[in-house]
Amino acid sequence: MAHAGYEVGLYRPEFRSQVVSLLQHLWGGDPDVNLSYFQWKYDDNPYTESPLGIVALHRGQVVGFRGYFAARFEILGKTNDLIVLCPGDTCVHPDHRQKGLSVAMGNTAMKEYAQKYRIMLNLSCTRNSLPGYQRMGFLPIAKKVYLTRCTLLGLVKYILAARENTLLEASRIRFQRFCIAPDGLLNGAESLFRPFTDSNL
Ligand SMILES: CC(C)(COP(=O)(O)OP(=O)(O)OC[C@H]1O[C@@H](n2cnc3c(N)ncnc32)[C@H](O)[C@@H]1OP(=O)(O)O)[C@@H](O)C(=O)NCCC(=O)NCCS
Repeated sequence: MAHAGYEVGLYRPEFRSQVVSLLQHLWGGDPDVNLSYFQWKYDDNPYTESPLGIVALHRGQVVGFRGYFAARFEILGKTNDLIVLCPGDTCVHPDHRQKGLSVAMGNTAMKEYAQKYRIMLNLSCTRNSLPGYQRMGFLPIAKKVYLTRCTLLGLVKYILAARENTLLEASRIRFQRFCIAPDGLLNGAESLFRPFTDSNL
């Protein structure tokens, strides 16, 4: 797909070294660690035949990547073989940001993967990526909480609280909501999901 001087399309193995190099802007500067993480997460994913992702090219060079990590989910009583695509590792080179590339990559993925997959679930939305997910029609399902402090006693209470189905906040572990806006519904980082259509769950 053409996007004002850019090409947006499916990831192919020949892009791997450029993609891994780009991802230093998200994952940090250790190329060996980044390569092995990419291999584990995308090349070796047992639920896909080949790595799933979208790239944005500018003059033939990779300037954007959006990964899709396939994970098998079970919905009790409904299905035990639901493959969910978890979008993530979205990274646009600093020189090419705010031009709509992350959303263009996301929209391309929704078109390309709609035939085979039924749902996308993002579990790692950040302050900067939340507007893009909203733009693509993702719906918030839960607020993200961060563990900010923990003691051994707190850990035990946390486990007990989880077993008893009581609110995890009832344990002595301190969680903190990550607020990004002072008002409105979307005032915290979210987990977001998007079915490909309204009726295919
Ligand atoms: C987050 C990131 C992927 C966005 O890519 P991008 O191509 O610049 O985003 P887009 O141009 O498609 O913008 C999509 C929406 O997000 C908004 N947005 C983009 N960058 C933003 C930022 N830094 N802060 C707040 N909003 C931002 C845009 O305004 C746009 O919203 P709109 O449609 O309501 O106008 C890019 O900044 C990046 O690579 N950051 C570093 C890595 C990172 O944090 N990745 C997220 C991991 S989940």
